[in-house]
Amino acid sequence: MARKKRFWSVVCIVFFVACSFGAALAGSEFSNDGNGRKGKYLYRKNCRTCHDGSSAAEISPNTKTQAQWQRTFNTYERLECAEEWQKMDQGDLTDIFTYLYDHAYDSPQPATCG
Ligand code: HEC
Repeated sequence: MARKKRFWSVVCIVFFVACSFGAALAGSEFSNDGNGRKGKYLYRKNCRTCHDGSSAAEISPNTKTQAQWQRTFNTYERLECAEEWQKMDQGDLTDIFTYLYDHAYDSPQPATCG
């Protein structure tokens, strides 16, 4: 009897771990497999217009770490400028993500976009 109980708790734990792992994967919608050069251009054209310190905070790739960029992109709906993001397609956003992520503060080549 006791053995059987242990078996089921192991099944439960394995199931729970598998689920949370799956959820974590599903959460990371953006990956840095876009075109970073195009992303830089798109960033300047679509984001930098406000984020040059004029109407919004100045933002460069090295403003955030890779983990912070990942989080920002996965929850961009919460940003004040979410409307601007929604004007772009997923491919363009992936390119911008690639540019920012590859030159993040803790990346091998941190960069400003100035
Ligand atoms: C029409 C102007 C405008 C455009 C275009 C715009 N934003 Fe914003 N953004 C804002 C404002 C205003 C805020 C909130 C105030 C602030 O953070 O300065 C904001 C906030 C943010 C924040 C949160 C602040 C922070 O430092 O973490 C991020 C990240 C961001 N924007 C990224 C972007 C990206 C990436 C793009 C291009 C896809 C973009 N924005 C396009 C105006 C804009």
